[in-house]
Amino acid sequence: MYKIGLIGLGPMGNNLARNFASKNFSTLVYNRTYDKTADFINDFRPEFSQDTLEGAKTIEEFIEKLERPRKIVLLIKAGEPTDQVINQIAPLLEKGDIIIDMSNAWYKDTQRRSKDLEEKGLTFIGCGISGGEEGALRGPSLMPGCSDYAWDQTKPLFEAISAKDFSNGPCVTHIGIDGAGHYVKMVHNGIEYSIMQIIAESYEILRKIYGQKPEQIRAIFEKFNNGKLRSFLIEITEKVLAQKDEFQSEQHLIDFILDQAEQKGTGKLTSIDALDRGIAVPSITEAVNARIISSQKRLRENFAPIFSKNVTEITIDDEAIKELENSLHTTMIISYAQGLNLIKTAAQEENWQINISEILRIWQGGCIIRAELLKTLQSAYQGQDNPTHIFEIPTIQNILSTEISDLKTTVQKGLSADLYLPCYTSALNYFQGFTTEKLPANMIQGLRDFFGAHTYHRTDREGIFHTKWS
Ligand SMILES: NC(=O)c1ccc[n+]([C@@H]2O[C@H](COP(=O)([O-])OP(=O)(O)OC[C@H]3O[C@@H](n4cnc5c(N)ncnc54)[C@H](OP(=O)(O)O)[C@@H]3O)[C@@H](O)[C@H]2O)c1
Repeated sequence: MYKIGLIGLGPMGNNLARNFASKNFSTLVYNRTYDKTADFINDFRPEFSQDTLEGAKTIEEFIEKLERPRKIVLLIKAGEPTDQVINQIAPLLEKGDIIIDMSNAWYKDTQRRSKDLEEKGLTFIGCGISGGEEGALRGPSLMPGCSDYAWDQTKPLFEAISAKDFSNGPCVTHIGIDGAGHYVKMVHNGIEYSIMQIIAESYEILRKIYGQKPEQIRAIFEKFNNGKLRSFLIEITEKVLAQKDEFQSEQHLIDFILDQAEQKGTGKLTSIDALDRGIAVPSITEAVNARIISSQKRLRENFAPIFSKNVTEITIDDEAIKELENSLHTTMIISYAQGLNLIKTAAQEENWQINISEILRIWQGGCIIRAELLKTLQSAYQGQDNPTHIFEIPTIQNILSTEISDLKTTVQKGLSADLYLPCYTSALNYFQGFTTEKLPANMIQGLRDFFGAHTYHRTDREGIFHTKWS
């Protein structure tokens, strides 16, 4: 009998099965197409015994060979395929058995599946997983949303295979019930979109304003990665810049990659959900927009010669590098502020009881946005009385007060050089909006009341007012 069942032998399932087996959890795998199972067993059997890692030919054999209560991890394509597999296995399962969906599922699907399976006496865990293929093998960050029963049953398994935080704790926590885990994973990806865009914009500034070559930019990112920006994404930026091309000898690969960014949709879903909840996440949304605009290359090529750009190079010095480091750091904090504010709001609306400090802890290892900054944010959160927004926390206020002037200078330089810097500018605007006591929204209200009798509130008396505008 096997402790864990895993369905889906794509890159993620393949690596997670090996992770489970390497922690001595006997693991049985199943894949719709048996050839993949046979290849998997052929490739990895030599590393493990048959009792530790095995493949099943049929779904019936798979279900029969699992210990009760069964724990079945799904690592298959999100959406319709997940429903198809659940419908296939649910009739074969028994009361108390647990299905763990680790796809990037839409959290509302997870809520629906949790409810449907609960009605059948089964248990469902919607578990966000981050860290890509490498994380699945060596230790991912895990974000399970489920009942207390399901968490008690699976906690030791999750803790054993997950990455470690800065204090060597497991990068997993019980996020909340039903869709909470997949929701937090979605927002994690939204923040990831924003940070990747800020890195791309920093590269653009170094390239076009300071005239730096890939090797010089690589050295600057290496320096960044030795300081407060230390993170997986900054580290791999350095590696991307170092990569030589395989076709054009001695040239850098980055110069031959087409400037059209693709996406799988989690950034877009984060933005849509944020708009639905009335929460501003402009840096995440602008990161999605930037990918959309980049993908419309034909239009960009047509318009570029008509509207010429005015880029004047500036000589780089240590002060300019520090200015960019601070801009990146403060913009990352503003991106987190937006994502965390969204999670907090969703948690209240969905009754999820999410502990933000725990989220900042479990993102410290394994996941794509793992970063030194998460230690700063987590310790800033500790001892706080559940702040509504991270701008309320004194440590964060101090960092923003010190670094925001550098972000302003970066944006000014970028705009003067006709650069497209959507994430830097939107982060600055977000900061300015949230730190301005009186905004021109009085004008919006006046206009709304003028053309639509939408009414307005006054500054000097209670009540709702409408004016017969002349
Ligand atoms: N890649 C990442 O970095 C990453 C990170 C976090 C989460 N995820 C999530 O992890 C999951 C797995 O990702 P992946 O990249 O390993 O592989 P994938 O390409 O998303 O999925 C491949 C697997 O899905 C199975 N599948 C597809 N449709 C099916 C259906 N109708 N019925 C049964 N099985 C079906 C395939 O079976 P066949 O071999 O028979 O076609 C194969 O085992 C996805 O949901 C993804 O969102 C991925």
